[in-house]
Amino acid sequence: MAEPTLLEKIVSLCKRRGFVYPGSEIYGGLTGTWDYGPLGVEMLRNIRNAWWHDNVTTREDIVGVDTAILMHRNVWKASGHEEAFTDPLVDCKACKARFRADQIAESQCPKKPSKRPGEHAECQLTEARKFNLMFKTFVGPIEESAAQTYLRPETAQGIFVQFKNVCDSTRIKVPFGIAQVGKSFRNEITPKQFVFRSREFEQMEIEFFCHPTTSREWYEKWRDARFAWYKQLGIKSDNLRLREHDKDELAFYSVGTSDVEYMFPWGWGELEGIAHRGDYDLQQHIKHSGKDLSYYDDETKDRFVPHVIEPSAGATRSFLAFLCEAYQEDQIPDEKGKPEVRTVLRLHPRLAPVKAAIFPLVKKDGMPERAMGLYKDLQRHFGVFYDEKGAVGRRYRRQDEAGTPFCLTIDGQTSQDQTVTIRDRDTTKQERVALDKVLGYLIERLTR
Ligand code: GAP
Repeated sequence: MAEPTLLEKIVSLCKRRGFVYPGSEIYGGLTGTWDYGPLGVEMLRNIRNAWWHDNVTTREDIVGVDTAILMHRNVWKASGHEEAFTDPLVDCKACKARFRADQIAESQCPKKPSKRPGEHAECQLTEARKFNLMFKTFVGPIEESAAQTYLRPETAQGIFVQFKNVCDSTRIKVPFGIAQVGKSFRNEITPKQFVFRSREFEQMEIEFFCHPTTSREWYEKWRDARFAWYKQLGIKSDNLRLREHDKDELAFYSVGTSDVEYMFPWGWGELEGIAHRGDYDLQQHIKHSGKDLSYYDDETKDRFVPHVIEPSAGATRSFLAFLCEAYQEDQIPDEKGKPEVRTVLRLHPRLAPVKAAIFPLVKKDGMPERAMGLYKDLQRHFGVFYDEKGAVGRRYRRQDEAGTPFCLTIDGQTSQDQTVTIRDRDTTKQERVALDKVLGYLIERLTR
């Protein structure tokens, strides 16, 4: 049997260890949907929290919102999504499969032996037609066109629509940004590569409003800051690149767009787009809503429609990138000193679902009680895990696979000198630390 690919290994680890499960699995699954399990939900929350902390909590010029997933249909008319948020769709009349016309070269016909769509004698591909990616829905009990709207395909429009309320209800002044994290929905023609392209996913977006004359400068600042963020969280430079769009790829209102791309197991893929959007979005909402969304600067006595820089990241997509980056198989000695292959997730401590695991070496001599006491103490500060089952070496391996940075063991020496061993996931080295210094030791290393 062929050796599984890196992506297959990650998908399997995610299911086995409770990071991600296929959506609706007991009913045969629902393509393009994924459910986050106990470890996955913690890691995804850590990504969101790291993003929010670094972009909102620790900045004076950004505030957050959480807007509704359901919005007035006119929002999507104004934003251009109703008219133009489409992908080119090709149907095969023979096998009924559907493909993205611009991805035929990377697609496979379901007929065996596997070939590209159009390469089997029976294939009957239609001309490409535009397929709108928004999920339609109805608000209220009657399914009529007046009640129709869509599940939001991006979190950004909620921000534009509340721009004036945020200005009026806070004392924040341009230049400033509004941030939002939340679910978005796109009826992707071909969801693929695990959570990379799914139909329901999470975005982390900022709309940064500035004076037109400073917009290029802000665009460059955001582009560089967002690129650096992924590196701070452990992505190696070789696996990360910033790709500036060519002039002919840019929308008419934009002076620049860059994508932060990650080298996924199948090649480069976009993690985040940083777009200079000019005043396009606010002007569209001014036009369609008839409301004045201009900004008055009472220092310069200048009234203008701000320009916008939009760093738009995928939380669930970066979840996959962080997992791909962290996944490693290395060799370490087993309990008898023989080399053993271990799977380890070298996740940045800020992203690790569990920060430390606490073990009693054996289930006697008061060790479980002491270990449980330490577990309860640490639980007040961060996510920890208690485990007393099986050989300690096996317990270490389980935590390595879950990406837990530290394992603490209470052993026979603990009752004599009030110390525990702390084992580092990455080096597997152990050191003895006094019980009353454990919290400080961990905090120092988890927040580096
Ligand atoms: N408001 C701008 C906007 O939504 P986008 O490039 O369409 O821009 C931003 O999306 C980010 O959202 C992408 O860089 C990606 O990380 C994430 N994303 C988009 N579609 C996705 C999908 N189908 N599945 C998972 N993540 C997706």
